[in-house]
Amino acid sequence: MPIVRFVREARDVRCQYGENLREIALREGMQLYGFKGAIGNCGGCGQCITCFVSVESENLGALSQRTEVEKTKLRNRPDKWRLACQASVKSSLVVLTKPQSPPPNSQQLIEEALSKVLPK
Ligand code: FES
Repeated sequence: MPIVRFVREARDVRCQYGENLREIALREGMQLYGFKGAIGNCGGCGQCITCFVSVESENLGALSQRTEVEKTKLRNRPDKWRLACQASVKSSLVVLTKPQSPPPNSQQLIEEALSKVLPK
């Protein structure tokens, strides 16, 4: 079973292969959304563009490939950014939620998260 390591929340969450990243985050009580998304989001349809996550581990292939929605909506965003609602987990990875407003010590948190071995 893959592990999703949430940097901001300092939590490792085990999930099923192919499980939707947004559903994992919400199930585990993560604050996936910023202010705008918390007020109103599309419920996972790929329309509100508020469920950003950044894949911090090297393995961008740990998530399913970008959907057509993401190719359009994320074309001006970093390659490592994804819409959680459009991404399925294929193997263990490290993610930062709300990368549009990273915590002040985000680089340190990311380095710490990456320094710990991820179970396969
Ligand atoms: S929840 Fe609206 S785009 Fe992901």
